[in-house]
Amino acid sequence: MPPGFTLPSFAKINLLLKILGKREDGFHELFTVFQTVSLHDSLTFELSDRLTLTSDRKYLPTDERNLIIRAAKALQQRFGLTTGAAIYLEKRIPSPGGLGGGSSNAAAALIGLRTLWGIEATNSDLQSIAAELGSDASFFLHGGTAIGTGRGGFIDPIDDMSEPYMLIVTPDVNVSTKTAFRRINAATLTKAASNHTLQVCRSEVESLDLRHSALINDFEASVFSAYPEIERVKDTLLGLGAVNAAMSGSGASVFAIFDKEETRQAALKALDNEVNWRKFAVAAISRSEYREALKFVL
Ligand code: C5P
Repeated sequence: MPPGFTLPSFAKINLLLKILGKREDGFHELFTVFQTVSLHDSLTFELSDRLTLTSDRKYLPTDERNLIIRAAKALQQRFGLTTGAAIYLEKRIPSPGGLGGGSSNAAAALIGLRTLWGIEATNSDLQSIAAELGSDASFFLHGGTAIGTGRGGFIDPIDDMSEPYMLIVTPDVNVSTKTAFRRINAATLTKAASNHTLQVCRSEVESLDLRHSALINDFEASVFSAYPEIERVKDTLLGLGAVNAAMSGSGASVFAIFDKEETRQAALKALDNEVNWRKFAVAAISRSEYREALKFVL
Protein backbone atom coordinates (compact mmCIF):
# COMPACT_ATOMS: atom_id res chain seq x y z
CA MET A 1 0.00 0.00 0.00
CA PRO A 2 1.45 3.38 -0.91
CA PRO A 3 1.87 5.75 2.04
CA GLY A 4 0.33 9.22 1.85
CA PHE A 5 1.65 11.63 -0.75
CA THR A 6 1.05 15.18 -2.01
CA LEU A 7 0.52 16.37 -5.59
CA PRO A 8 0.33 19.92 -6.98
CA SER A 9 -2.87 20.96 -8.74
CA PHE A 10 -1.91 23.73 -11.18
CA ALA A 11 -4.01 26.65 -12.42
CA LYS A 12 -4.56 27.44 -16.11
CA ILE A 13 -4.94 30.61 -18.10
CA ASN A 14 -6.61 30.97 -21.49
CA LEU A 15 -4.06 32.54 -23.86
CA LEU A 16 -6.89 32.83 -26.39
CA LEU A 17 -10.61 32.26 -25.93
CA LYS A 18 -13.12 32.47 -28.77
CA ILE A 19 -16.80 31.70 -28.45
CA LEU A 20 -17.83 30.39 -31.86
CA GLY A 21 -21.57 30.12 -31.20
CA LYS A 22 -24.31 28.34 -29.36
CA ARG A 23 -24.69 24.58 -29.76
CA GLU A 24 -27.90 22.66 -29.95
CA ASP A 25 -27.34 21.26 -26.42
CA GLY A 26 -27.39 24.83 -25.05
CA PHE A 27 -23.64 24.87 -24.38
CA HIS A 28 -21.23 27.01 -26.41
CA GLU A 29 -18.73 25.90 -28.99
CA LEU A 30 -15.32 27.20 -27.98
CA PHE A 31 -11.87 27.58 -29.40
CA THR A 32 -9.33 28.19 -26.68
CA VAL A 33 -5.61 27.87 -26.00
CA PHE A 34 -5.00 26.63 -22.47
CA GLN A 35 -1.72 27.09 -20.61
CA THR A 36 -0.81 25.65 -17.22
CA VAL A 37 0.94 28.06 -14.84
CA SER A 38 2.97 27.60 -11.66
CA LEU A 39 0.25 28.85 -9.26
CA HIS A 40 -1.10 25.68 -7.65
CA ASP A 41 -3.15 24.10 -4.91
CA SER A 42 -1.82 21.00 -3.11
CA LEU A 43 -3.70 17.76 -2.66
CA THR A 44 -2.60 15.21 -0.06
CA PHE A 45 -3.90 11.64 -0.33
CA GLU A 46 -3.98 8.98 2.39
CA LEU A 47 -5.74 5.63 2.47
CA SER A 48 -8.78 5.53 4.72
CA ASP A 49 -11.94 3.46 5.28
CA ARG A 50 -14.10 6.40 4.26
CA LEU A 51 -13.90 9.05 1.56
CA THR A 52 -13.32 12.44 3.18
CA LEU A 53 -12.14 15.87 2.06
CA THR A 54 -10.76 18.56 4.35
CA SER A 55 -9.34 21.92 3.37
CA ASP A 56 -7.54 24.92 4.83
CA ARG A 57 -10.37 27.13 3.52
CA LYS A 58 -13.43 26.94 5.73
CA TYR A 59 -15.86 28.24 3.08
CA LEU A 60 -15.11 25.52 0.51
CA PRO A 61 -17.72 22.76 0.21
CA THR A 62 -16.20 19.38 1.04
CA ASP A 63 -19.18 17.25 -0.01
CA GLU A 64 -20.43 16.31 -3.49
CA ARG A 65 -20.51 19.95 -4.51
CA ASN A 66 -16.72 19.70 -4.64
CA LEU A 67 -15.34 18.22 -7.89
CA ILE A 68 -12.70 16.27 -5.91
CA ILE A 69 -15.40 14.20 -4.22
CA ARG A 70 -17.27 13.78 -7.50
CA ALA A 71 -14.07 12.62 -9.22
CA ALA A 72 -13.31 10.16 -6.39
CA LYS A 73 -16.83 8.73 -6.39
CA ALA A 74 -16.84 8.34 -10.18
CA LEU A 75 -13.54 6.42 -9.96
CA GLN A 76 -14.82 4.21 -7.10
CA GLN A 77 -17.97 3.45 -9.04
CA ARG A 78 -16.23 2.69 -12.33
CA PHE A 79 -13.83 0.23 -10.65
CA GLY A 80 -16.19 -1.17 -8.01
CA LEU A 81 -13.97 0.00 -5.13
CA THR A 82 -14.91 0.16 -1.48
CA THR A 83 -11.59 1.62 -0.24
CA GLY A 84 -11.76 5.26 0.78
CA ALA A 85 -9.28 8.10 1.00
CA ALA A 86 -8.62 11.05 3.27
CA ILE A 87 -7.89 13.96 0.95
CA TYR A 88 -6.58 17.30 2.18
CA LEU A 89 -6.77 20.37 -0.07
CA GLU A 90 -4.53 23.38 0.45
CA LYS A 91 -6.20 26.09 -1.63
CA ARG A 92 -4.31 28.94 -3.23
CA ILE A 93 -6.03 29.29 -6.64
CA PRO A 94 -8.81 31.90 -6.39
CA SER A 95 -12.16 30.22 -6.90
CA PRO A 96 -14.09 31.18 -8.89
CA GLY A 97 -11.51 33.10 -10.85
CA GLY A 98 -11.30 31.81 -14.43
CA LEU A 99 -8.20 29.79 -13.53
CA GLY A 100 -9.75 26.32 -13.64
CA GLY A 101 -9.06 25.56 -9.97
CA GLY A 102 -11.98 23.16 -9.45
CA SER A 103 -11.33 21.29 -12.70
CA SER A 104 -7.63 21.06 -11.93
CA ASN A 105 -8.40 19.63 -8.48
CA ALA A 106 -10.67 17.02 -10.12
CA ALA A 107 -7.95 15.92 -12.55
CA ALA A 108 -5.28 15.82 -9.81
CA ALA A 109 -7.68 13.72 -7.69
CA LEU A 110 -8.12 11.23 -10.54
CA ILE A 111 -4.35 10.99 -11.05
CA GLY A 112 -3.60 10.74 -7.31
CA LEU A 113 -6.33 8.25 -6.45
CA ARG A 114 -5.38 5.96 -9.32
CA THR A 115 -1.98 5.60 -7.64
CA LEU A 116 -3.30 5.53 -4.05
CA TRP A 117 -5.82 2.81 -4.84
CA GLY A 118 -3.45 0.96 -7.20
CA ILE A 119 -6.06 0.63 -9.93
CA GLU A 120 -5.40 -0.23 -13.54
CA ALA A 121 -7.30 2.78 -14.92
CA THR A 122 -6.03 3.78 -18.35
CA ASN A 123 -5.66 7.44 -19.27
CA SER A 124 -8.70 7.10 -21.49
CA ASP A 125 -10.68 5.85 -18.43
CA LEU A 126 -9.58 9.01 -16.62
CA GLN A 127 -10.41 11.14 -19.68
CA SER A 128 -13.95 9.84 -19.87
CA ILE A 129 -14.54 10.54 -16.16
CA ALA A 130 -12.96 14.01 -16.48
CA ALA A 131 -15.21 14.88 -19.44
CA GLU A 132 -18.26 14.38 -17.20
CA LEU A 133 -16.90 16.58 -14.43
CA GLY A 134 -16.44 19.96 -16.11
CA SER A 135 -15.44 21.64 -19.34
CA ASP A 136 -11.83 22.27 -18.25
CA ALA A 137 -11.11 19.01 -16.42
CA SER A 138 -9.96 17.15 -19.56
CA PHE A 139 -7.24 19.73 -20.18
CA PHE A 140 -5.73 19.04 -16.76
CA LEU A 141 -5.01 15.45 -17.81
CA HIS A 142 -2.61 16.97 -20.38
CA GLY A 143 -1.12 20.21 -19.05
CA GLY A 144 1.33 22.47 -20.93
CA THR A 145 -0.07 24.36 -23.91
CA ALA A 146 -3.11 22.87 -25.66
CA ILE A 147 -6.00 23.82 -27.90
CA GLY A 148 -9.44 23.09 -26.47
CA THR A 149 -12.48 22.83 -28.75
CA GLY A 150 -16.08 21.64 -28.45
CA ARG A 151 -17.30 22.58 -24.97
CA GLY A 152 -13.61 23.05 -24.21
CA GLY A 153 -13.00 19.37 -23.51
CA PHE A 154 -11.52 18.16 -26.83
CA ILE A 155 -7.84 18.65 -26.19
CA ASP A 156 -5.12 18.93 -28.79
CA PRO A 157 -1.65 19.45 -27.24
CA ILE A 158 0.57 21.89 -29.18
CA ASP A 159 4.19 23.06 -28.78
CA ASP A 160 4.78 24.53 -25.33
CA MET A 161 4.81 28.32 -25.15
CA SER A 162 7.35 29.42 -22.58
CA GLU A 163 6.61 32.60 -20.59
CA PRO A 164 8.67 32.97 -17.40
CA TYR A 165 7.54 36.44 -16.24
CA MET A 166 3.81 36.68 -15.75
CA LEU A 167 1.49 38.18 -13.16
CA ILE A 168 -2.02 36.96 -12.44
CA VAL A 169 -4.22 39.49 -10.67
CA THR A 170 -7.65 38.56 -9.31
CA PRO A 171 -9.89 41.38 -8.10
CA ASP A 172 -12.51 40.66 -5.47
CA VAL A 173 -15.33 40.02 -7.97
CA ASN A 174 -17.32 36.81 -8.48
CA VAL A 175 -18.22 36.21 -12.12
CA SER A 176 -20.67 33.39 -12.83
CA THR A 177 -19.52 31.47 -15.92
CA LYS A 178 -23.10 30.58 -16.75
CA THR A 179 -24.21 34.24 -16.67
CA ALA A 180 -21.12 35.31 -18.65
CA PHE A 181 -22.05 32.87 -21.44
CA ARG A 182 -25.66 34.09 -21.37
CA ARG A 183 -24.58 37.74 -21.69
CA ILE A 184 -22.66 36.97 -24.89
CA ASN A 185 -25.97 36.18 -26.61
CA ALA A 186 -24.17 34.02 -29.18
CA ALA A 187 -25.89 32.95 -32.38
CA THR A 188 -26.68 29.30 -33.01
CA LEU A 189 -23.82 27.66 -34.86
CA THR A 190 -24.08 25.42 -37.91
CA LYS A 191 -21.62 22.54 -38.30
CA ALA A 192 -20.22 23.96 -41.58
CA ALA A 193 -19.63 27.40 -40.08
CA SER A 194 -17.99 25.81 -37.06
CA ASN A 195 -15.61 23.70 -39.18
CA HIS A 196 -14.58 26.72 -41.22
CA THR A 197 -14.00 28.92 -38.17
CA LEU A 198 -12.01 26.19 -36.44
CA GLN A 199 -9.62 26.06 -39.40
CA VAL A 200 -9.15 29.83 -39.30
CA CYS A 201 -8.52 29.70 -35.53
CA ARG A 202 -5.93 26.95 -35.87
CA SER A 203 -3.95 28.95 -38.39
CA GLU A 204 -4.15 31.99 -36.07
CA VAL A 205 -2.61 29.90 -33.29
CA GLU A 206 0.29 28.93 -35.54
CA SER A 207 1.26 32.59 -35.86
CA LEU A 208 0.35 33.50 -32.26
CA ASP A 209 3.08 35.58 -30.66
CA LEU A 210 2.28 36.11 -26.98
CA ARG A 211 4.33 39.31 -26.77
CA HIS A 212 2.88 41.04 -29.85
CA SER A 213 -0.41 39.44 -31.01
CA ALA A 214 -3.71 40.70 -29.60
CA LEU A 215 -4.74 38.20 -26.91
CA ILE A 216 -8.43 37.71 -27.62
CA ASN A 217 -10.91 36.68 -24.98
CA ASP A 218 -14.49 36.97 -26.26
CA PHE A 219 -15.82 37.31 -22.71
CA GLU A 220 -13.93 40.56 -22.09
CA ALA A 221 -16.34 43.10 -23.59
CA SER A 222 -19.44 41.92 -21.73
CA VAL A 223 -17.69 40.97 -18.48
CA PHE A 224 -15.81 44.32 -18.41
CA SER A 225 -19.05 46.24 -18.87
CA ALA A 226 -20.70 44.32 -16.01
CA TYR A 227 -17.58 44.53 -13.78
CA PRO A 228 -15.47 47.61 -14.66
CA GLU A 229 -13.03 46.68 -11.86
CA ILE A 230 -11.73 43.79 -14.01
CA GLU A 231 -11.02 46.13 -16.92
CA ARG A 232 -9.23 48.41 -14.46
CA VAL A 233 -6.97 45.47 -13.54
CA LYS A 234 -6.07 44.91 -17.20
CA ASP A 235 -5.46 48.62 -17.88
CA THR A 236 -3.37 48.96 -14.72
CA LEU A 237 -1.15 46.00 -15.67
CA LEU A 238 -0.58 47.39 -19.16
CA GLY A 239 0.15 50.80 -17.63
CA LEU A 240 2.79 49.18 -15.41
CA GLY A 241 4.75 47.91 -18.39
CA ALA A 242 3.17 44.53 -19.25
CA VAL A 243 3.77 43.74 -22.92
CA ASN A 244 0.40 42.00 -23.12
CA ALA A 245 -2.56 41.19 -20.88
CA ALA A 246 -5.96 39.49 -21.09
CA MET A 247 -8.69 38.15 -18.87
CA SER A 248 -8.61 34.38 -18.24
CA GLY A 249 -11.76 32.30 -18.82
CA SER A 250 -14.86 34.21 -17.75
CA GLY A 251 -12.83 36.16 -15.15
CA ALA A 252 -12.25 37.70 -12.77
CA SER A 253 -8.51 36.91 -13.10
CA VAL A 254 -6.35 38.85 -15.56
CA PHE A 255 -2.90 37.64 -16.62
CA ALA A 256 -0.12 39.90 -17.83
CA ILE A 257 3.10 39.06 -19.66
CA PHE A 258 6.30 40.94 -18.86
CA ASP A 259 9.49 40.84 -20.90
CA LYS A 260 11.79 40.79 -17.90
CA GLU A 261 11.82 40.04 -14.19
CA GLU A 262 12.72 43.64 -13.16
CA THR A 263 9.59 45.09 -14.82
CA ARG A 264 7.41 42.37 -13.31
CA GLN A 265 8.81 42.99 -9.82
CA ALA A 266 8.35 46.75 -10.17
CA ALA A 267 4.72 46.19 -11.27
CA LEU A 268 4.09 43.85 -8.34
CA LYS A 269 5.48 46.45 -5.95
CA ALA A 270 3.33 49.20 -7.50
CA LEU A 271 0.25 47.03 -6.88
CA ASP A 272 0.88 46.95 -3.11
CA ASN A 273 -1.79 49.59 -2.51
CA GLU A 274 -4.49 47.53 -4.31
CA VAL A 275 -5.36 45.61 -1.16
CA ASN A 276 -8.47 43.96 -2.67
CA TRP A 277 -6.56 42.40 -5.57
CA ARG A 278 -4.82 39.04 -5.17
CA LYS A 279 -1.51 38.94 -7.05
CA PHE A 280 0.56 35.95 -8.14
CA ALA A 281 3.92 35.96 -9.91
CA VAL A 282 3.79 32.88 -12.15
CA ALA A 283 5.59 31.13 -15.01
CA ALA A 284 4.18 28.87 -17.72
CA ILE A 285 4.45 25.17 -16.83
CA SER A 286 5.36 22.98 -19.79
CA ARG A 287 3.72 19.64 -20.48
CA SER A 288 6.79 17.71 -19.33
CA GLU A 289 7.11 19.80 -16.13
CA TYR A 290 3.40 19.23 -15.50
CA ARG A 291 3.60 15.47 -15.93
CA GLU A 292 6.73 15.18 -13.86
CA ALA A 293 5.20 17.17 -10.99
CA LEU A 294 2.04 15.05 -11.04
CA LYS A 295 3.95 11.80 -11.66
CA PHE A 296 1.53 11.29 -14.50
CA VAL A 297 2.69 8.86 -17.18
CA LEU A 298 0.82 8.52 -20.46
O1 C5P B 1 -17.97 23.72 -17.36
P1 C5P B 1 -18.39 24.66 -16.31
O2 C5P B 1 -19.02 23.99 -15.14
O3 C5P B 1 -17.38 25.68 -15.95
O4 C5P B 1 -19.59 25.51 -17.02
C1 C5P B 1 -20.46 26.36 -16.28
C2 C5P B 1 -21.63 26.77 -17.17
O5 C5P B 1 -21.16 27.53 -18.30
C3 C5P B 1 -22.38 25.60 -17.81
O6 C5P B 1 -23.37 25.11 -16.97
C4 C5P B 1 -22.96 26.24 -19.07
O7 C5P B 1 -24.14 26.95 -18.74
C5 C5P B 1 -21.91 27.25 -19.46
N1 C5P B 1 -21.02 26.73 -20.52
C6 C5P B 1 -21.40 26.87 -21.85
N2 C5P B 1 -20.56 26.42 -22.84
C7 C5P B 1 -19.36 25.84 -22.54
C8 C5P B 1 -18.97 25.68 -21.17
C9 C5P B 1 -19.82 26.15 -20.19
O8 C5P B 1 -22.46 27.41 -22.16
N3 C5P B 1 -18.58 25.42 -23.52
